[in-house]
Amino acid sequence: MRLGFSTAALLSAAAGSLASDLANVTCGALADAGLASRITYPGSTIYEERVDSYWSLTAQLTPWCILQPHNAKEVSTAVKALVKANKKEECLFAVRSGGHTTWPGAANIENGITIDLGLMNSTTYIASNNTAQVLPGSRWLGVYETLDALGIAAAGGRAATVGVAGLAIGGGNSFYAARKGLVCDNIAQYEVVLASGEIIYANNKTNTDLFRALKGGTGNFGIVTRLDLETFQGQDLWGGVVTYPNSTTDAQIEAFVNFGNNIVNDQYGSAIVIWQYTTQNAATILINAYEYTKPQAWPPAFDEFKAIPNRTSDSMRFTNMTDLTIELEQAAGYRDTFITLTFVNDKRVVKKAVDLHNIVVEKVKAHKATGNWTVQDMVQPIPTIFTKHSVEKGGNMLGLDRFDENLVLFQTYLAWEGAEQDDFFQSTGDWYIAQLSAYAKSIGKDNPYIYLDYAYATQKPLENYGAVNIAKIKAAAKKYDPTGVFQKLVPGGFKISKVQ
Ligand SMILES: Cc1cc2nc3c(=O)[nH]c(=O)nc-3n(C[C@H](O)[C@H](O)[C@H](O)COP(=O)(O)OP(=O)(O)OC[C@H]3O[C@@H](n4cnc5c(N)ncnc54)[C@H](O)[C@@H]3O)c2cc1C
Ligand SMILES: *[C@@H]1O[C@H](CO)[C@@H](O)[C@H](O)[C@H]1NC(C)=O
Ligand SMILES: *[C@@H]1O[C@H](CO)[C@@H](O)[C@H](O)[C@H]1NC(C)=O
Ligand SMILES: *[C@@H]1O[C@H](CO)[C@@H](O)[C@H](O)[C@H]1NC(C)=O
Ligand SMILES: *[C@@H]1O[C@H](CO)[C@@H](O)[C@H](O)[C@H]1NC(C)=O
Ligand SMILES: *[C@@H]1O[C@H](CO)[C@@H](O)[C@H](O)[C@H]1NC(C)=O
Ligand SMILES: *[C@@H]1O[C@H](CO)[C@@H](O)[C@H](O)[C@H]1NC(C)=O
Ligand SMILES: *[C@@H]1O[C@H](CO)[C@@H](O)[C@H](O)[C@H]1NC(C)=O
Ligand SMILES: *[C@@H]1O[C@H](CO)[C@@H](O)[C@H](O)[C@H]1NC(C)=O
Repeated sequence: MRLGFSTAALLSAAAGSLASDLANVTCGALADAGLASRITYPGSTIYEERVDSYWSLTAQLTPWCILQPHNAKEVSTAVKALVKANKKEECLFAVRSGGHTTWPGAANIENGITIDLGLMNSTTYIASNNTAQVLPGSRWLGVYETLDALGIAAAGGRAATVGVAGLAIGGGNSFYAARKGLVCDNIAQYEVVLASGEIIYANNKTNTDLFRALKGGTGNFGIVTRLDLETFQGQDLWGGVVTYPNSTTDAQIEAFVNFGNNIVNDQYGSAIVIWQYTTQNAATILINAYEYTKPQAWPPAFDEFKAIPNRTSDSMRFTNMTDLTIELEQAAGYRDTFITLTFVNDKRVVKKAVDLHNIVVEKVKAHKATGNWTVQDMVQPIPTIFTKHSVEKGGNMLGLDRFDENLVLFQTYLAWEGAEQDDFFQSTGDWYIAQLSAYAKSIGKDNPYIYLDYAYATQKPLENYGAVNIAKIKAAAKKYDPTGVFQKLVPGGFKISKVQ
C-alpha cells in the first residue's frame, strides 16, 4: 500500500551509488558493531511488517535498514557505531517507539536507518516502590494488560496501540489527568542512552535537569530505553462511547464547556467530544468518550451530557483500562494528518470549530476526493487542575502553568487514501486550523500552546513552551548531547536547535 513512496525509493536508487554506498556504510557499521542479527533490509518479511506497522500510511517511509535492538546495551552500541561511522552529518537515523506520529519522518526516515524499539516492549511491576518499568516500544495495551491483571493503575494513553515513549515524552493526556496531571508528570524515572553511548538514569535526585527536560522535551537528548511509571491502586472504571446525531451539536457544546469548567469539582471524570464525518456514514455524527476513574455510573459530573437526547449507541459499562483502550482504537491503514490548536474554554470558539468542520466536509465533497475519507474534529478539556497536579509533581516543560484559564485541546484529524491527495487534505487541514486560530484571536480567546503529540510537522510546539522552558531544554540538550547528535543526525521530531 506504500504507493507514494515506491516512487521515492526508485528516485533515490536512481540518484546513483552515493546513497547506496552510504547505506552500506551505515548499515554495515551496525553489523560490524555486532548487531548484524538485529538488522533487517527491504524485501525481508520483518522489514515489510515493521514498515507496515506505522499507524498512518503517511509515516511508512522505507529506511535503508531497520535496527531492532533487544535492550539498552544494544541501543548504546548502535548509537556509538553510527556516531563513529559519521563523517560529516551523513549517517542519519530515526528513533521509533510506537510509530503513531502521523507526519512522514517523525519516527522514520527515507535515506537513513531506523532504530525501531518495538521489540523492547515489556512491563514489569515493582511493588517495592510502586512503579511499572515499561520499555519504550510498548504499546499502552501491553502496559494495561499487565497492570490490570495486578489491580494496578497508571496514567497513560487511551488507545490500545499508541506507543509509550513517544506519547510520554511529548506530554500525554489520559483519563487520569484531573487526578494526577499529565502522563509525563507521572514518570518517576527515565533510562536514557546518550549520544556518547552512556546509559544514565534521570529522576528527581539524579540528572534532575534531564528528568524535567524529558517531560515534554521529546527526543532532543538521547534515546529513552525505559520509563518507570508511578502506579497506584487500580479499580474498575465506568466508561465507554455514546454516539448522537449531528442535530445535538448545540447541546453538546454547552455540556462540553460546562464539563471542562467543573472537572475541578469531581476529578474522576474525563470527556472527549468528537464530530466525525466519514464517507461510509455520509453524515457527521457525535462520538463522545466518557470515562470515570472509579466504578460509578452516570455520576452528576455527566448530568448535562446525560440529558442530551437521541443517543444512537451507548457502550457505557464498568470495565478495565485494557478494554477501554481497545474500544478507543482508531482505524489504521489510511493516510492521515493530525493538526492541533489550543484555545480558551469558550462556547463561541467550540461552535466555530464545528461550523468549520461542516465547511471542511463540504470543501472535501466539492473537491470530489476519491476513496474513503474522514474529517474528525475532537475537543478535550485542559482545565487548570491538570496543571496544578503537574506543578505539585515538580513540573514539566509544557508551560501550561503560565495560564490561569481552563483551556480546550482541539485536534483536527483527516484521513484519506492515495498519496496524490496528500497536498489537498493537508492544505485543507492547515486552512481549518488557520481559520479557527484567527477566530479565537479575534475574540481574545486564543492560547499559544501547541500540543506536541498532536502537532503537524510545520507547527511549533516547542516554540510555545515559553522562554524559561525553552532555555531549560536547550541547556539540557547541550549538556547531555554536546556534539548535537540528536539535533543533526536525527532529523525527525521537533528539534530544539530549530527554536530561536
Ligand atoms: C490512534 C491514536 C491515539 C492516540 N491517543 C492519544 C492519547 O490518548 N493521549 C495522548 O496524549 N496522545 C495520543 N495520541 C498521540 C500520541 O501521543 C503521539 O502520536 C505519540 O507520538 C505516540 O507515541 P509513539 O511512541 O507511538 O510515537 P513515535 O511516532 O514512535 O515517536 C514520536 C516521536 O518521539 C521520538 N521518540 C519515540 N520514542 C523515543 C525514545 N524512546 N527516545 C527518544 N525519542 C523517541 C520519535 O523519534 C518521534 O519524533 C494518539 C495518537 C494516535 C494515532
Ligand atoms: C554493499 O556491500 C556489499 C558487500 O558488503 C556489496 O556486495 C554490494 O554490492 C554493496 N552495494 C552497493 C550498492 O554498493
Ligand atoms: C514485543 O517484543 C517481543 C520480543 O521481545 C516480540 O516477540 C513481540 O512481537 C512484541 N510485541 C509487540 C506487540 O510488538
Ligand atoms: C478486562 O476487561 C475485559 C472485558 O471485560 C476482560 O475480558 C479482561 O479479562 C479484563 N482484563 C483483566 C486483566 O482483568
Ligand atoms: C524502583 O525499584 C527498582 C527495583 O529496585 C529500581 O530499579 C528503580 O530504580 C526504582 N525506581 C525509582 C523511581 O526509584
Ligand atoms: C521523588 O521521586 C520519588 C520516587 O518517584 C517520590 O517518592 C518522591 O515523592 C519524589 N520527591 C519529590 C520531591 O518530588
Ligand atoms: C431528537 O430526535 C427528534 C426526532 O427525530 C427530533 O425531533 C429532535 O429535534 C431531536 N433532538 C435533538 C436535540 O437532536
Ligand atoms: C450538521 O449540522 C449543521 C448545522 O448544525 C449543518 O450545517 C450540517 O450540514 C450538518 N452536517 C451534516 C453532514 O449533516
Ligand atoms: C470504503 O469503505 C467501505 C466500507 O468500509 C469499503 O467497502 C469500500 O471498498 C471502501 N471504498 C474505497 C474506495 O476504498
